[in-house]
Amino acid sequence: MEIIRTISELNSLIKKLKTEGGSLGFVPTMGALHDGHLSLIRQSSEKNGVTAVSIFVNPTQFNDNQDFKSYPKNLEEDLNILSSCSVDLVFAPSPEEVYPEPDTRIFDFEGLDKWMEGEHRPGHFNGVAQVVSRLFEIIQPDMAYFGEKDFQQLAIIRKMASIMNSPVRIMGCPIIREPDGLAMSSRNKLLTPKERQSAARVSEALMRAKKQINKIPVESLRQDTMNFLHEDPKIQTEYFEIVDESDLTPVSDWNHNTRIRGCIAVAIGNVRLIDNMDYSF
Ligand code: PAF
Repeated sequence: MEIIRTISELNSLIKKLKTEGGSLGFVPTMGALHDGHLSLIRQSSEKNGVTAVSIFVNPTQFNDNQDFKSYPKNLEEDLNILSSCSVDLVFAPSPEEVYPEPDTRIFDFEGLDKWMEGEHRPGHFNGVAQVVSRLFEIIQPDMAYFGEKDFQQLAIIRKMASIMNSPVRIMGCPIIREPDGLAMSSRNKLLTPKERQSAARVSEALMRAKKQINKIPVESLRQDTMNFLHEDPKIQTEYFEIVDESDLTPVSDWNHNTRIRGCIAVAIGNVRLIDNMDYSF
């Protein structure tokens, strides 16, 4: 496993690896690796001769500087984890390497960023598109792997790839959960033991609501789910929406023949968590 910090070192290595190994799978990460990331890496290495992982906490996607500062960072531990995975190269650049000039590009996601994360974290998806497009340009992968936990992010990245006519195939991968249902996330590391207990309620709320689909009106289901979450005073709910998967707009009734998904964002203490579940019926 090669650890690379600069684009110039990367270019010749990628050429060599691709010539020897075939297609290149890419797993972009912000580090603080967990089993969710490892499942993306496994899927990449099953389908590609070469797998590259990036570790870069992208400053442009944090709309809150405090959140950026407290985001868990431990490169040494991450490299240690990756050394026992089938990863050929790790790209861990500095901000100056990724952004030699400030990135001023503004993306139009055709409304996909209007709700949920887009509404609660202004500028976040623009920063995600900036870094992912930049990493695609640098690494030139054939396929790139993203987790469905960030369901809206995945839709935004697909849109960005299509707007930019990118040849990279975007692969969405299922959420990996802890035994009590909590979706794996780097931010889980920031929870205190008590908060960690409360966090299990998020996936429980999604499961509970899933059982009521098509039985009670959408708005009642939203309210009931919010009430369930708020029975735990540690949880502050930012949103619970049931959205049409094709355009991410909230549905207001069950007369839909498209796929739908339940999406939640909460804050527990200072930690923001998101989760989602397939609600198609
Ligand atoms: O999902 C993430 O970890 C990040 O948003 C990504 C895609 C690596 C871009 O920084």
